[in-house]
Amino acid sequence: MTLVQGTSRGGRTATAVAERPVVAEAAEVADLPGDSAVGSAATFDTMVRRLNKLSLEIRHDAYADIPWDDPDWALAADDPRLVLNEADPLATTDWYQSLPLDRQAEIGLFRMAACMKIGWHFENFLQRGLLSLAMVEPDGSAAFRFLHHEIIEESQHTLMFQELVNRSGLPVRGMPLRWRWAAEASLWWLVRVDPAAFFVLVLGGEDPADHLQRSMLRCGIGHPLVERIMRIHVTEEARHLSFARHYLKRVVPSLGPARRAALAVQAPLLLGVMARMMLVPPSDLRRHCGVPRSVVRQAFRADQGRAFMSGSVAKTRKLLGEVGLVPRWAAPLWRLMGIGNTGM
Ligand SMILES: [Fe+2]
Ligand SMILES: [Fe+2]
Repeated sequence: MTLVQGTSRGGRTATAVAERPVVAEAAEVADLPGDSAVGSAATFDTMVRRLNKLSLEIRHDAYADIPWDDPDWALAADDPRLVLNEADPLATTDWYQSLPLDRQAEIGLFRMAACMKIGWHFENFLQRGLLSLAMVEPDGSAAFRFLHHEIIEESQHTLMFQELVNRSGLPVRGMPLRWRWAAEASLWWLVRVDPAAFFVLVLGGEDPADHLQRSMLRCGIGHPLVERIMRIHVTEEARHLSFARHYLKRVVPSLGPARRAALAVQAPLLLGVMARMMLVPPSDLRRHCGVPRSVVRQAFRADQGRAFMSGSVAKTRKLLGEVGLVPRWAAPLWRLMGIGNTGM
């Protein structure tokens, strides 16, 4: 297990935080009272207060909790510890496995840097949406406090993601420009007019990234810096995912039939686009590392790749099913977007 030595904040050492296993922390959040209930206002309030408490108990700092200058944690494009593990569909292709180790590591580093830049671009838009929601929360609202815990945590994530990008020295692009423009143009009204769709979008970004990072951690990550960043991220994202899910459980049942039908169409479209953006190797990676388009296609159209895409939104799909947003007639849309399950 990776340990981070010596930093102390508020009587809690970073070492102690690093020793906490990610899975145990995630389970702590998943076991919150009323987790399976479709939410009343009181249940939602209880959940959010518990999340607020956890936000204080388990938190990280992008610089204090990561030994960026430890020589053993430095990034080098030919470091074999950066070779992608089998959780990533790209790593399972014959093409990738036939490359020499230093080429595999070079692609591994670009892949991580690209994921993290896309990740913080997404988080930037997410933070703006959360700030907008916080503006209209009433005095005494537990959600007001959680929204700000989440904004602060996303800022820490952005700092650690960008620091890794800086230290990689790689020209990663981040979110495609067309999606950045679309988000700039539509976010402000989406959050205020249609907050349920906003939280579906939030889950569309956070759930696939969480799925990829958990899968990679389970398979074992060789490089301590990448491992540490992912461990911090999945720990804190468990709370964000829990908040978004409970928000939808509380709000969706009160929507009228037309709004619910619209959401049933929007959900697979938003989730499908977001899952692709978060998981499929982007075009700048293909160009920079010389990865043939056919290899990416092969990776994500093979059974394992399809299962990976579908599995990356499985928890969100299940939640939306529980609140009645996955009617039978919408199943072809889910399949069309590559995120249906075999039972649909
Ligand atoms: Fe994050
Ligand atoms: Fe998050």
